[in-house]
Amino acid sequence: MDIVLSGIRPTGHLHLGNYFGALKNFVKIQDTHKCFFFIADLHSLTTHPHPEDFHNSVKTILCEYLAAGLSPEKSALYIQSDVPEISELFVLLNMLAYKGEMERTAAFKDKVRKNPENVNTGLLTYPVLMASDILIHRAKYVPVGKDQEQHLEIARLLARRFNNMYGCEVFPEPQAFNFGSDLLKVPGLDGSGKMGKSEGNGIYLYEDDKSITKKVMRAVTDSGPTEPDSPKPEVIENLFTLMRLVSEPSTIQYFEDKWNDCSIRYGDLKKQLAADICATVAPIRERIDAIAADEKYLGEVVALGRDKARESAAATLALAREAVGFRKF
Ligand code: TYM
Repeated sequence: MDIVLSGIRPTGHLHLGNYFGALKNFVKIQDTHKCFFFIADLHSLTTHPHPEDFHNSVKTILCEYLAAGLSPEKSALYIQSDVPEISELFVLLNMLAYKGEMERTAAFKDKVRKNPENVNTGLLTYPVLMASDILIHRAKYVPVGKDQEQHLEIARLLARRFNNMYGCEVFPEPQAFNFGSDLLKVPGLDGSGKMGKSEGNGIYLYEDDKSITKKVMRAVTDSGPTEPDSPKPEVIENLFTLMRLVSEPSTIQYFEDKWNDCSIRYGDLKKQLAADICATVAPIRERIDAIAADEKYLGEVVALGRDKARESAAATLALAREAVGFRKF
């Protein structure tokens, strides 16, 4: 059975970008593949979260994973820092990753631009840790959004380099995965491109109908089409992109037709979009509170996931150590 792996950083609640770019695919694929899904708490240390908030941030993602439908029985659901084998592989792979390559990644350049006061080397080697997450289970598919494409490329590069350097076949080259279609970039509603936590334009899984509706009704639009069948400007295309994720095909077609004959009313479109987002989010939101109240269950989930993940990770690490030349005395 092919191995699938993915993770999300614990930095607040999950937004629709996380859900449609990643989590929804995790849920779909767990019936047909051997899956590892984790909470990337080591990665989130790069931004220096406060120790007092840390545990709750991890718990938030765990509850949202479970509420969205991830199964601790079908998949291995674990916390990255519970699996020390990842950190050891990280050390081995760091020897094969070159400073210039890391400095050239788009995510690193972006972080340097946005937070010049905190350019720690954890940020620089972030893609190496991510490669370690993936390669430690020898994963073949990695369900992620478009923003992670370059990191996946580095994971492939490091897998190849390790195999070549040590003359072995320990690591397969992992592929990004989105059920045969292109990787997704879920847009924000403020015209700024992607929906993201640091962009401050998120619509969250744990958000009530009133607040979601308010955000959607405030979405940036233009003055409307003046010629039939004209191309849509980006802010309008963004609304349609979101609609394609949450609405029925007949609803989407209705508004496409209205756009094409210039009779579209953005207020109607937004009302429909808000209702369809609320209908997607509400059942997940309702499950989150019940799950969060059951600490005993959460403890069992985390222990089960840790044991499954460590067993798989230890087997890979033994192969990697052998390849590098570590021998027992
Ligand atoms: P993170 O925590 O920023 O995001 C988690 C997942 O959500 C996706 N995503 C989006 N997809 C589409 N449109 C958007 N607007 C959008 N915003 C976020 C991301 O692509 C990602 O799949 N480095 C990773 C976490 C990680 C990881 C890994 C992922 C660590 N190790 C190993 C896969 C495999 C990250 O920061 O994602």
